[in-house]
Amino acid sequence: MSGPAANRGIAVLASGEGTNLQALIDAAARDALHGRIELVLSDRADAGALVRARAAGIHAVHLPPGDWPDRAAYDRALAALLAEHGIGLVVLAGFMRILDAEVVGGFAGRMLNIHPSLLPRHRGLHPHRKALAAGDRVHGATVHFVVPELDAGPSILQYRIAIQPWDNPASLSRRVREGEHFIYPLAVRWWLQGRLDCRDGQARLDGQPLAAPLVVTRDMAPVAVCA
Ligand code: GAR
Repeated sequence: MSGPAANRGIAVLASGEGTNLQALIDAAARDALHGRIELVLSDRADAGALVRARAAGIHAVHLPPGDWPDRAAYDRALAALLAEHGIGLVVLAGFMRILDAEVVGGFAGRMLNIHPSLLPRHRGLHPHRKALAAGDRVHGATVHFVVPELDAGPSILQYRIAIQPWDNPASLSRRVREGEHFIYPLAVRWWLQGRLDCRDGQARLDGQPLAAPLVVTRDMAPVAVCA
C-alpha cells in the first residue's frame, strides 16, 4: 500500500536525541523526501527529537507510558493518535519501545525501522557492544520493514563500515549514525515515491524483490546522495 498512503503524512516515533529525525526534516526541507512529516511522537519528555520537531514547526507529542495502565492500552492510544492524524507511514527513529502486534499489523508494509547493526546480526539492545564482543570486522545499520518480531522484518538498505582497532561502542554509534542519516531518508523517499513496498514478506524496490538488502558503504554515500 504505497500509492494512496504515500499522499498521507509521515509520523516519526523517537525516544532519543533525534538525529535521524533531523536528517528526515532536512531532507523534507530540500524537497528530497517527497512527503511531509505530520507528527513526531515520543515516549520520553526529554527526547531531543521533540525539541527538533518543535523547532521545525512539526506537531510534537509526548506520550508518557506511565499515563496508561499497561502496554496494550498505551499502544492503543498511540494507534489512535496515528489514525487521528491520517498517518500513512510510520518511521521508527530510535523509538525504544516494542509496539504490539496489533499496531504493527495495522501498518503492515507502512512502518519502517532503522537498527544500528547489520541485521540479522545483533538484534535488540546494545548492538555496538555485541559487534565488538563478537569480534566483527564489519558493522553498520539496517533499514527494514517492521513486523511483530523485534528487528526481524524484511531488510531494505544497509550502511556498512569497517570496525577499526580503536573503535568502542561510542565511536561505533557515532560512525554508524552518520550513515543512518543518509540511508534512512533515502528509504523513506523510495517508499513515498511508491518505489518501495513489502509483498509476501519481502521488500521490493521498483517491483523487484530484494533477496538481500541494498548496501551503501562509507565511500559510496556521498556519491549516492546525488542520485
Ligand atoms: C540510532 O542509532 C538508531 O539506529 C537506534 O537509536 C539511535 C537513535 O539515534 N535505534 C535503535 O537502537 C532501535 N533498536 P537518534 O535519536 O539520534 O536518531
